[in-house]
Amino acid sequence: MATRTMSPVLLIGGSGHVGARAARALRRLHPDLPIAIGGRDGRKASAVAAEVGGPTTATTVDVGRDDLGLDRGASFSAVVALVKDVGTNAMKRAQAAGVPYVAFSDFLGEIGPVIAHYVARPTRAPILMLGHTLGGTATLAALHLAQELRSVDTIAIACVIDPNDHGGPAALADFERLQQTGQAALFLDDGKWTWLRGDAATRRVVDAEGVAHVVQALPLLDVVSLAAATDARSIRVDMGARDRTAGGAGLVTDLIVEVSGRRHDGASARLRYDIIDADSHSRLSAYGAVIATERLLGLAGGPPVGPGLYHPESVLDPASVIRRLEELGARARRSQTAGA
Ligand SMILES: NC(=O)c1ccc[n+]([C@@H]2O[C@H](COP(=O)([O-])OP(=O)(O)OC[C@H]3O[C@@H](n4cnc5c(N)ncnc54)[C@H](OP(=O)(O)O)[C@@H]3O)[C@@H](O)[C@H]2O)c1
Repeated sequence: MATRTMSPVLLIGGSGHVGARAARALRRLHPDLPIAIGGRDGRKASAVAAEVGGPTTATTVDVGRDDLGLDRGASFSAVVALVKDVGTNAMKRAQAAGVPYVAFSDFLGEIGPVIAHYVARPTRAPILMLGHTLGGTATLAALHLAQELRSVDTIAIACVIDPNDHGGPAALADFERLQQTGQAALFLDDGKWTWLRGDAATRRVVDAEGVAHVVQALPLLDVVSLAAATDARSIRVDMGARDRTAGGAGLVTDLIVEVSGRRHDGASARLRYDIIDADSHSRLSAYGAVIATERLLGLAGGPPVGPGLYHPESVLDPASVIRRLEELGARARRSQTAGA
């Protein structure tokens, strides 16, 4: 497809921690693709647009407004909301235009409005729910491992971040809302859905360097995606910060994905990915958003995705996602131990 003739991909929140990284990655992968950086502060958006270069523009957008503050005639090839779409206004705009929409900031207990808007207009546009760990990359890595197994018993995902890696104000606001609304984390525990919070939701995980971390479960969408995509009886997803006193090699994000089950020959196996990126968690998350967006638009991995309600695993091929992450600079290390 001739990307230069497409309408711009609107990155709402494109000037934020995730958004600016997403814009840079999208530009690297698609030098001619028009991109519009959207945010309330036009100067901030313009600065990111200038840095990203190529056919990148800046536009003032506010998801709090019914019309997003955009001209009625402005046209976009996709609407990627890298900030909480507080009134589902960005989604409504994408449905009205019949273009793909990515919801990136909804915890598990918050997906009702997206589902209802999809149900009301199911044939209008492709709607991707991407409130998954690191923009869906963890779920795709888990499914890549699961492809080696005849049956899956457990899936455990952990994201270990730097103690100073809080994301931007929008991410902090999302976590404050999580606390204020008392949303617990959802696990699949030996075949039963279980909501847990506080200390009951913590576990210990050991990173690729052999260092142990305490991580805490979060209500991210990976658990439901993976429960629907595999026959695993136990699934959880946790996040935690590296110990402040540990020192180390600067800003690094570790994604640890462990899958256990039985191989096709009946032998038990524990498979693991360590995906490591030398930046805040915003960058791997941005990569996930970009890999999904290029797929929705038909710029990678097949033709444009038609109207429907999707999770990342419905539109992406696990092996291709791992390859794309490596191309973008993340390190993916695969290991295994025999015996479950
Ligand atoms: N699914 C995942 O994997 C994942 C991972 C990380 C983060 N997240 C989520 O991604 C979002 C962004 O996080 P971040 O760390 O990048 O936050 P951030 O640095 O605060 O960025 C927020 C961006 O959104 C813009 N913005 C804020 N309010 C807006 C509004 N009402 N209308 C339009 N634009 C608005 C900001 O620009 P202005 O201030 O100029 O408007 C900025 O560009 C958060 O919701 C976070 O929870 C999801």
